[in-house]
Amino acid sequence: MRNKTFLFGSATAAHQIEGGNTNCDWHKWEQIPGHIKDGSTAEIACDSWNKWQEDIKLLKEMGQNAYRFSIEWARIEPRKGEFDDKAIRHYRNILLELRKAGIASMVTLFHFTLPLWLAREGGFESSSSAKYFARYAERVANDLSDVVDHWVTLNEPNVYAYMGYVRGEWCPGRKSVFCALRVLSNLISAHTKASLVLHRYSSSVGIVINVSAFRAKNYLPLSHAIAWCVRMINHGVLFALLHKRVDFWGINYYFIEHFGIGFNIYHKQYPISDYGWKIYQNGLYEVIAECSRWKKPIYITENGVADNRDVVRRTFLKEAFFSLERAITEGFPIRGYFHWSLLDNLEWNQGYKMKFGLCTRDRKMRKSASVYSELIHGYSTKFSSSD
Ligand code: GCO
Repeated sequence: MRNKTFLFGSATAAHQIEGGNTNCDWHKWEQIPGHIKDGSTAEIACDSWNKWQEDIKLLKEMGQNAYRFSIEWARIEPRKGEFDDKAIRHYRNILLELRKAGIASMVTLFHFTLPLWLAREGGFESSSSAKYFARYAERVANDLSDVVDHWVTLNEPNVYAYMGYVRGEWCPGRKSVFCALRVLSNLISAHTKASLVLHRYSSSVGIVINVSAFRAKNYLPLSHAIAWCVRMINHGVLFALLHKRVDFWGINYYFIEHFGIGFNIYHKQYPISDYGWKIYQNGLYEVIAECSRWKKPIYITENGVADNRDVVRRTFLKEAFFSLERAITEGFPIRGYFHWSLLDNLEWNQGYKMKFGLCTRDRKMRKSASVYSELIHGYSTKFSSSD
């Protein structure tokens, strides 16, 4: 059953935009020199904890009908088992304002940051973490489910485990594949327990997985085999394990990357973002097609480009819509598109030098914001359906 209204939105994450989130593990991590490349912290970020009404105003001005944001666990449960009603009311006010503006909400419960009390117990390395996450989900769902349209349990468990526990470049800075596998296992358990809880309140519960266009670097069979293995490790296994535990997939798509042995025959073919990522927006169509085999509705929950000069982003957006149009025309179950991001924000260990925003941190709209607005206006009827 097609969604009547295609969702055109933006995505953000609490710690990256709110400011003042000092009771979480990332805040502690940011204080250690070298952890954030430009030496910055999320102390202020975009000050969205105080200026969230201005964020909603920007969404309305661009004609967006959806907003994906995260609720900060460290604010909801600042001490183990103690829930902060004031913090819950804060997010309720945001959700009510979105409803009033006719903007659908997609709420992420975990977007990489943990309350300090849980971090001290080992975070998602702890076998109790899934139980604590389900308890947090229960409280938030109980208090907010009447004003939330779509729930996401976890954002990018694959990226979180890889960057925080294999590469060690993100909090908590571990470098152990064994630890990463234990964290992934506990994250899958956390999603399973939380989705059972959320399903008592909502029929729209999903998970967000980072899916890149991982391809062979040449025609050698071994290169194709290696690229296949990378796709399985990055997201294939997660889809297989979780497809019975989601009502929809959230797919974060950013770039193409090539794997294999020998020479990369495609190396020079792609424009490169400020982040060094290979830009390939036809890949958006390709990953939709790849993930559609699990026969679940799909939302593109993040797609964006680090582009300080705001030159690449305009073409990037137009190409995203070409991919979406092709996927919809071919009957794939794509239900919405959330651009990353509404605002420039703390790009984790990169600090603020990577600019993903349709708007700057001080909420100045870039030219690409108008392009996005025009695309929404031009495609909304075509993408939505009456069936
Ligand atoms: C991620 C997160 C976002 C990032 C965005 C740009 O994928 O790391 O979902 O928090 O900021 O993807 O890298």
